Amino acid sequence: MGCTMLRNDAQSYGVVTILFHWIIALIFIGQMLLGYLMVRTSDFALQFNLFQWHKSFGFMILALSGLRVLWRMANPRPRDPDGMGYLERLAAHVAHGLLYLALFLVPLTGWAIASSSPLQIPTYAFNLIVIPPLPLAISDQAEAFWTVSHAYLAYLSAFVATAHMLAALHHHFWKKDAVLLRMLGWYSTAHDRQHAEQLRSAPKDVQS
Ligand code: HEM
Ligand code: HEM
Repeated sequence: MGCTMLRNDAQSYGVVTILFHWIIALIFIGQMLLGYLMVRTSDFALQFNLFQWHKSFGFMILALSGLRVLWRMANPRPRDPDGMGYLERLAAHVAHGLLYLALFLVPLTGWAIASSSPLQIPTYAFNLIVIPPLPLAISDQAEAFWTVSHAYLAYLSAFVATAHMLAALHHHFWKKDAVLLRMLGWYSTAHDRQHAEQLRSAPKDVQS
């Protein structure tokens, strides 16, 4: 058992997809909390620092998501489990599409805030890489527009991500299928799964 494949196959996700999913999900959730808190603090020195962290991790999501999509295009997607109806499949696929879209649109609109702000504060990802501004109009109005867009898109995608997480839990605890397990790297192949099921149903004395 376990997950030793790099690539996806028709039943399971490979390690690369799994790492992309959980690393990006973790940073994304962190960014939501950080973004929410940083705009609400009245300690301006702290706020400035939090903004720099927020921008750096945002660029990390953008870069990782670019690589992730390339990897996704070069890999098969595991089949949906049997017993999922048409609408369920559709909902899952639409949600995944929206989440992929969010992984680009949310950081890009964030980048647009920093680029259009009359303050023109230079952006260094992790104090290391100079990020040039996007070629956008610089004005208070432009900054306000991108700020609202960024905030709306961020909270909308958090809503979709929450539904997505609840759906994963629903699959695991109610439907008891392998959807969550295969994104965790358990049951790397259908064979492993069958084997585990056989072990579970075998009489105690036959188990080794
Ligand atoms: C997936 C990545 C990102 C997520 C999930 C995210 C999320 C958020 C959230 C939730 C807020 C608070 C919105 C509010 O309540 O008003 C926020 C604010 C902000 N974000 Fe992001 N963000 C991301 C990436 C970025 C990037 C890459 C940049 C810039 C390069 C950026 C720049 C900003 C700025 C400047 C604000 C403050 C806006 C204001 O002045 O109110 N964000 N972000
Ligand atoms: C704790 C929270 C999360 C859980 C439990 C979770 C669980 C899962 C599971 C089980 C799958 C596999 C679905 C399948 O096999 O069809 C999946 C796929 C996916 N997840 Fe999440 N996820 C979480 C958070 C996130 C977040 C925050 C994002 C993005 C912002 C995200 C984006 C995606 C995408 C785009 C896919 C589709 C992967 C593909 O191309 O097949 N997930 N997630």
